[in-house]
Amino acid sequence: MNRRTTVGIHDLSFASAEFVLTHATLAAHNGARLAKYHTGIGQQAMSVPAADEDVVTLAATAAQPVVQRHGTDRIRTVLFATESSIDQSKSAGVYVHSLLELPAATRVVELKQACYAATAGLQLALALVTRDPGQQVLVIGSDISRYPLDSPGEATQGAAAVALLVAADPALLRIEHPSGLYTADIMDFWRPNYLSTALVNGQESISAYLQALEGTWNDYTKHGGRPLGDFAAICYHQPFTTMAHKAHRHLLRHCGHQSEHPATTALTCTTAYNTQLGNSYTASMYLALAGLLDHADDLTGQPVGLMSYGSGSVAEFFAGTVVPGYRRHLRRTAHRTVVDRRQALTYARYRDLHETQLPTDGGDHPLPPQTTGPFRLAALTGHKRIYTPR
Ligand code: COA
Repeated sequence: MNRRTTVGIHDLSFASAEFVLTHATLAAHNGARLAKYHTGIGQQAMSVPAADEDVVTLAATAAQPVVQRHGTDRIRTVLFATESSIDQSKSAGVYVHSLLELPAATRVVELKQACYAATAGLQLALALVTRDPGQQVLVIGSDISRYPLDSPGEATQGAAAVALLVAADPALLRIEHPSGLYTADIMDFWRPNYLSTALVNGQESISAYLQALEGTWNDYTKHGGRPLGDFAAICYHQPFTTMAHKAHRHLLRHCGHQSEHPATTALTCTTAYNTQLGNSYTASMYLALAGLLDHADDLTGQPVGLMSYGSGSVAEFFAGTVVPGYRRHLRRTAHRTVVDRRQALTYARYRDLHETQLPTDGGDHPLPPQTTGPFRLAALTGHKRIYTPR
């Protein structure tokens, strides 16, 4: 294993949507016991986008502070991961490139494999930066998780985007080699092009996740990865936050770990944002990382495990080491504002937003301003999306 790698995550910023639906409001509507949501699935609330927000506006909002802090000169690649794609051809990243006024000399592409794709983006970015340490890569994961109203999945919706700046001599996390890899052709969660909400077999998605965790861990170990006892914390993909606890217990059992593991106490930090924002698909594991870095005691020099899972399914387990001085570069106050600034919805208003469909007739449709974020989807015209800074 090359533990001297000096490529990794230099900056991390996330954004979420304009509105929030609390699980108390949802439970009052559907008669579920609140403990099922708060304890059983580990969710307090979930973000709901305004009608003039989408994965582009969320992504640009997440990435803007990164660009403002580091400038655009060294960014030569934007990798946009999403499973809430808005176009079959054009990368959502090109709109973000335009909104953030990135240099023309940039390659931009969209990546897809359910919730895993941002990790594919991160790994591709590491390779690019290793080849040319002078350049930086902006990796974005941006998603809106939507399930049908009154379905079991409804309680596990959410929306958020994460922006990672990948660079040499990173300020936050040095990413290590190797990775453990795992792919299996399975239908636990998917969304055909003609549906606006996802299809999921909940119990199958849980067992598929755990099977993938075993597979990727076995491969990680086979390729010389760290022993489980090394990790101060592990960030798991979190479609709902109790999934992180299920996964962690499963991994400990799989490795025959008898005693209490230090990463167990860190789990609460990794769920701090996801429990409030809900499922953000590609961004979810990186919000777990943000939660950990923003809330845990000093992690300087500590190894952190990262378990990325995307239904369908592809998984990757890899590790990073927390860089000395990382706390000076965190965005804890801004992240807290992302959570706190959202406006609470009544159930009726949430239902209205959920049922709102964008017009598909190619006519001119200005969208009334709803979001108070920095970017908005201002109109649809001639089948084109028009974005503007607000
Ligand atoms: N108090 C405490 N816990 C309670 C409870 C109560 N009153 N009522 C139920 N629970 C617990 C259940 O025991 C269960 O926990 P367990 O799995 O540890 O046994 C949990 O709450 C959920 O209950 P369940 O009956 O399974 O809920 P559900 O049928 O509504 O489905 C999901 C829950 C998570 C499976 C469903 O929301 C879903 O499919 N979400 C999508 C998941 C996803 O995105 N997967 C793809 C990506 S990995």
